[in-house]
Amino acid sequence: MVIGKMKMAVIAAALLLAGATPTAFAEGDMARGEKLGYTCLGCHGIEGYRNAYPSFRVPRLGGQKAAYFVAALQGYRDGSRPHRTMAAQASSMTDQDIEDVSAYLASLSGDTVAAGGSTAPGLEETTACTACHGQNGISVSPTWPTLAGQHEDYLVHALKQYRDGTRKNVLMMPLAAALTDSDIALLAKYYAGLEGLETSKAN
Ligand code: HEC
Ligand code: HEC
Repeated sequence: MVIGKMKMAVIAAALLLAGATPTAFAEGDMARGEKLGYTCLGCHGIEGYRNAYPSFRVPRLGGQKAAYFVAALQGYRDGSRPHRTMAAQASSMTDQDIEDVSAYLASLSGDTVAAGGSTAPGLEETTACTACHGQNGISVSPTWPTLAGQHEDYLVHALKQYRDGTRKNVLMMPLAAALTDSDIALLAKYYAGLEGLETSKAN
C-alpha cells in the first residue's frame, strides 16, 4: 500500500503531538523505588561526582524525564549503552524495578519545564536538535532527555559515544555522525549553560 505524502505528514505531526503531550508517570511504586534508589544517590546525588575513567562528571538526573530514565536503564541492561557500573546496576533489575526506581528518582525534583513565553536565543548549530530536545534544551517528549543544565563533560562523552556507535540509538547515531569535535564542544557548552537539570537530592 502506498501512503500519500500528505498522509505521512499528518501521521508525523500526530506522532509529534502525542509525544509532546505531557503524560503523568504513575506506573512505578515509589516506596519500592526509594529502597532501590538509595545506592544510586551515592553517585548521582553528589554534586560534581566523577566517573573515574574516562573522566567526566556523573550525569545530573534532577529534573530529567521519568520515561527517559526507563529507556536509559533498559539500555544499560540490554547492552546498547556500554558502562560497566551502570550495566552492573541495571543487569539485576526487573522491568518493575526499573519503573519503580525511575518513578522515585523523578519524584525527587519533578520534570523541568521550559519557562513560558520567550525561548533562549539559541545557537545555529542546535537547529537539528530543537525538534526533540526543545528550544531551551528542555525535551518535548517524556522519553527524550532534557539537555539543559547537564554537565558539559558528560554531554561531550555521550555525543562521542553516539558518534562512534558504542552507545546505540537509531535517532542519535546518524545525527552525531555528522558532528565534528568542535561542533560537539560547542553544543555541549551551550546546553550545559542553559537552566535546567540539577543534582538529585534525597527527600
Ligand atoms: C558508581 C556510580 C554510579 C552509581 C552507584 C549509579 N550510577 Fe547511574 N550513572 C553513572 C555514570 C558514570 C553514568 C553515565 C554512564 C554512561 O557513560 O552512559 C550513569 C548514567 C545513568 C543514567 C543515564 C543518564 C542520562 O542522562 O542518560 C541513569 C538513568 C542512571 N545512571 C540511573 C541510575 C540508577 C537508577 C542507579 C541506581 C540503581 C544508578 N544510576 C547508580 C554512575 C552511577
Ligand atoms: C529525532 C529526535 C532527536 C533529535 C533531532 C536529536 N536528538 Fe539527541 N536524543 C534523542 C533521543 C531519543 C535520545 C536518547 C537516546 C538513548 O536512549 O540513548 C537522545 C540523547 C541525546 C543525548 C544524551 C543525553 C543523556 O542524558 O545521556 C545528547 C547529549 C543528545 N541527544 C544531543 C543531541 C544534539 C546535540 C542534537 C542535535 C545535533 C540532538 N541530540 C538531536 C532524540 C533526538
